[in-house]
Order: sequence, then C-alpha cells, then structure tokens
Amino acid sequence: MHQPDLTVANALLPRFDASPTPYHAVQTVIAQLTAAGFVDVSESAASVPGRQFWHDGGALIAWATAPDHTAAAGYRIVGAHTDSPNLRIKPNPETQSTGWKQLGVEVYGGVLLNSWLDRDLGLAGRAVVRTPDGAATRLFRDDRPILRVPQLAIHLDDDIRATGLKLNQQRHMVPIWGGLAETPDFRTYLADALDVDADQVLSWDAMPFDLTPAAVVGLNQEFIASARIDNQLSCFLAVDALIQAADQPGSRIPMIGLFDHEEVGSVSATGAAAPLLSSTIARIQEQLGGSAEDAARSRRDTLVISADGAHATHPNYADRHEPDHQIHLNAGPVLKVNANQRYATDAITAAAFELACEAAGSPMQRFVTRTDLRCGSTIGPATAALMGVAVLDAGCPQLAMHSAREMCGVADPGHFAAVMHEAMIA
Ligand code: CO
Repeated sequence: MHQPDLTVANALLPRFDASPTPYHAVQTVIAQLTAAGFVDVSESAASVPGRQFWHDGGALIAWATAPDHTAAAGYRIVGAHTDSPNLRIKPNPETQSTGWKQLGVEVYGGVLLNSWLDRDLGLAGRAVVRTPDGAATRLFRDDRPILRVPQLAIHLDDDIRATGLKLNQQRHMVPIWGGLAETPDFRTYLADALDVDADQVLSWDAMPFDLTPAAVVGLNQEFIASARIDNQLSCFLAVDALIQAADQPGSRIPMIGLFDHEEVGSVSATGAAAPLLSSTIARIQEQLGGSAEDAARSRRDTLVISADGAHATHPNYADRHEPDHQIHLNAGPVLKVNANQRYATDAITAAAFELACEAAGSPMQRFVTRTDLRCGSTIGPATAALMGVAVLDAGCPQLAMHSAREMCGVADPGHFAAVMHEAMIA
C-alpha cells in the first residue's frame, strides 16, 4: 500500500490543536518564530538587518531583512487570516430555559451551524482583568467538555426527515451550560479559570471550540481532518516558509501578514483592511534610510500571495462546481481566479504563481467558481486595493469549508509551503 509522507501533516496537527482562537493562533506562531530567532518588536524599535515580528490580538506581521537589502527592495509577502467562523459568548451570556442554564452566543462569520451540534465543546479566548495599575489582557483555555448544543431528536420534527433541520442562529445554537442550581454564572466561572476575583473580570472575547483533536484520516492516510483548516493552515505554512526563507535571503524581503476578522469582512484594527503591512514596510524602509522614491520602486517590485482555503470539488455536489475546473485533494495548491475581483489574481500574478510552482516542483490547479454562483473572497482584494501592489490568491484545496471540522489533503500543505518559499526567495 502507498505510504504518504506525513511529515508536514504531523507538524501541523499540534498547531491546530494549540490554536482554538485567533489569539491562541498568534501565540502558536510566536512560539515558532521565537524558536527560530525572530524578535518581538511590538513594544520596541525595529532594526535592520534582523528577524522581527509584531503582534496585536489576532494579528501578526513578521519579516526577515538581510545585510544587502536596500530600501528599494521589493517584498515577497504571504498573507493569511487567523480567524475562523465560530460561536462567541455574548456580553450578558446568562440565559435559561425549562430548567437549564445556557450561555447566549453570537454566530461569528459564515458558520455551517449543523456542524457544531452534538460536539464536546471547550471554551477559550481572552479576558481583560482589572489590575492595581489598570487592566491586563489574559488568554484562557478550558479543555474540559463544558458546553454542548444538542440537536433535536428526529421524532420531534417531521421536517427533519424530509428537508433536514433548519437552524435559527438566535434560538437553536444556544449551548447548554448546566442545571440551574449547581451552575455558576459566566463571570464567576471565568474568574475561577483566570484565578482572579469575579469583580476583576472586565470583559471577554470567548469562544466555544470542538475538543476533537486534529487527525490524519482516510484508509490510505491521505487526509487531514481538523477545525480551522480555513485558514490556520495557510498561517502555519506561511510561518514555515518565512523561517526557511530567512536562512536563504534573496534580493526581496520575505514577510508574512496574518490578520484577524477576514470571515466578517476584514474591516477592523487587526484586519487586512487596516494598513498593517504598509505601515510595517514604511517602518522597515525608514530603518533602511529610504525615500518616497525608494518606496515607489519597492511597491512595483512587491508580490503578495493571499493564502486561503480553496474549494475542492465535492463528489456529492459536483453540480455546484465549475465542470471544467475540477479541484482535487492532494493534486497541488490551487490558484484562484475571479474576473469580478473577489480574488486578486490576474494574468501577471497567475504567471508568477505558476513559475513558483515550477521552481518548487509542485503540481498546481486552477479554480474559478461557477459563474452563476456567488464567489467567496479573501484578504487578497483588500490588500491589493490598500497597498497598490501585485496580489494573487491561492490556497490548499479542502472540503467542508466553514464546518467545525474541515478536511484537506496531506500532500498539498507541503507543496504549498514549498511554493511560498520559492516565491519568497525569488
Ligand atoms: Co478563509
């Protein structure tokens, strides 16, 4: 039997498991960058040359400058997003019904609601706690199965058999928190988890997550099943590629931009619609003694790979896909094209991607959505518009995008990281 190479997959699984929220994803990335000699310049001056990063909540920018990089050097950037559709605890979460204590949740992004039912849910996020000199942000994570959204029994709804369960975001996704008598209110629970007093808990960004660990699955160990493949997969591959590129400096400056809030349109202080890449580049160019003229040269010579999940063709819904652009798992990273600029790729940047795939010895596939269906989008178009630089959209093929448990191939991530690497050192 064919034994696939699971090196890349096995390195990914623990990173998915370590990252139940965008904030935890950034911490996962920071641990890897720090081990590779990157220095946190969030609170201190950047300097050149150097391997550096800054971070804020669910966003992180990292780069590596070498001694012969000039202010006019172009950038080779991989952009991705740290957030995934999920459920988020409301500010006044206490609610109850028929003798149950429940926690009110908002639905974040385009969640496949059914995929969250009957799962053992932990809870993670960040909280701001009162301190003697003001307030401090603390990450928290509870790996116990403390929340659950049970589905309705099939006997109780005639429609389920015929058309499937119709789920209302407000009424049907409210997790059970426990019995009335014994269950603490949420603030008390959180204070306990953070080891502070309840009146110290000021606020939170808290999200249930599926406790099922990421796994290699399939008879031939061909697939990865995990939460948050969209888009932590691209984030982790971007970090791998950057760390490798830092050891092999070319004439361009390798950089990664990991952003929050893509799933809700990117418009936030830590989203791709904020000028985080441009301001970081301006910061580096000033360190390199650059002028506005250098900045213009640099912009002309910059390429961004907007890395995000791509739809593989679903065998049970083949008619939902463009018949002449079928996409398969383990057949290589996918270049995404949309004439209406839902993806930023054009002929020029498509060619750059094809050449990077050739250099990496990677297969590649080309995706367009059916022209009578609405196309998804990415950080690509916003990044192109904000920076005025060349951008392409590409990603690993996957099934069940926005499910609580998604699926991709074991071979594509290694290929995509190699393509990112080739692009960075070109
Ligand atoms: Co995505």
